[in-house]
Amino acid sequence: MTGRELTELETPTAVVDVDTMAANLARMADYARSHGLRLRPHIKTHKTPELAAEQLRHGADGVTVATLREAEVMAAVAEDILIAYPPVGRARIERLLALPPHLRLSVALDSHDALRALAAAAAAAGREIGVLVELDLGMGRCGVPTPEAAVALAKEAATLDGVAYRGVLFYPGHIREPVAEQGPALARLQADLDRFRTALARAGVEPEVVSGGSTPTAFASHRISGLTEIRPGTYLFNDRTTAAIDACAWADLAYTVLATVISTGVPGQAVIDAGSKALSREEIRAPGASGYGALLDRPEVVVRALSEEHGILDLSRTDWRPRVGDLVRIVPNHVCVSVNLHERLLGVRGGSVVDDWAVAARGREAAP
Ligand SMILES: Cc1ncc(COP(=O)(O)O)c(C=O)c1O
Repeated sequence: MTGRELTELETPTAVVDVDTMAANLARMADYARSHGLRLRPHIKTHKTPELAAEQLRHGADGVTVATLREAEVMAAVAEDILIAYPPVGRARIERLLALPPHLRLSVALDSHDALRALAAAAAAAGREIGVLVELDLGMGRCGVPTPEAAVALAKEAATLDGVAYRGVLFYPGHIREPVAEQGPALARLQADLDRFRTALARAGVEPEVVSGGSTPTAFASHRISGLTEIRPGTYLFNDRTTAAIDACAWADLAYTVLATVISTGVPGQAVIDAGSKALSREEIRAPGASGYGALLDRPEVVVRALSEEHGILDLSRTDWRPRVGDLVRIVPNHVCVSVNLHERLLGVRGGSVVDDWAVAARGREAAP
């Protein structure tokens, strides 16, 4: 596709403005560097090894993944991989231990069962896997709920063969309010983190790594004392939700779905060829916002409704009257799930395609 004009492309197709992405990568890398924070981007947003390589070139210290497929694909470009997902089940552990031996691997976990099974299998395979004890600091997903539970798990990780206790991890994904209103939630997070860190230090298992960070809270990370590493993912592309909570500017949106207007028959709306199978049906979690995406060039025009292959643009807040065949660029509510629906990402500059990447870490099968 490289060398083609956007007007020549078959739609819907996922496009990435390469200059906006480069600016996003540089901004986060500069921020982390200037505050002495290690940067370990979560690659679930792009699932593309070339883009992980770009993040590493911009100063990332390693990458974060969720799935074994992602780890297998990223092993081609990254030497330090954190699997921020509990390695539960024999199949998952076998696949983890089959990753190339030169990699520095670590996992997040929150149970003695997961820890013991991993340690036994790793010791038998002659490998050592780093362990971060996952803390629940308000997300309510994975993570130990109390400092006592964290201490018990850290102590066991520090003594078992096959694993090396490296520290703690949390995900502040529950903090989704507009950036200017995050103060109270960040203060609660700090108080909870302090309780965990104090207990771990007193018990002789002080964490060397304290891994946190998300895109909505990324630029507040230096205010969280004790944090050593951040794992933002969305930031390289951003999305409508990120912009709606002021965690990025509209000009920082690097990813859009290029779509074609296919019908204007029903008054007050236009139909595009990007539906839930190109944008995803994620709701927007931001005050006063609705719909499943918005036009990059006309944010007041939102995708009001979706079928699988149809998106309905609401024209009630615009004078713009599109014609059948017009191209539009849609900013999805949640970029990670939209990317996951596409086989390729096209890098664009102005109206031309300058890069063409396979989203190689999609799916769950073992990477070839
Ligand atoms: C464990 C973990 N770390 C980091 C991230 C990245 O957060 P964000 O998408 O807000 O950048 C995620 C996102 O789901 C996550 O689950």
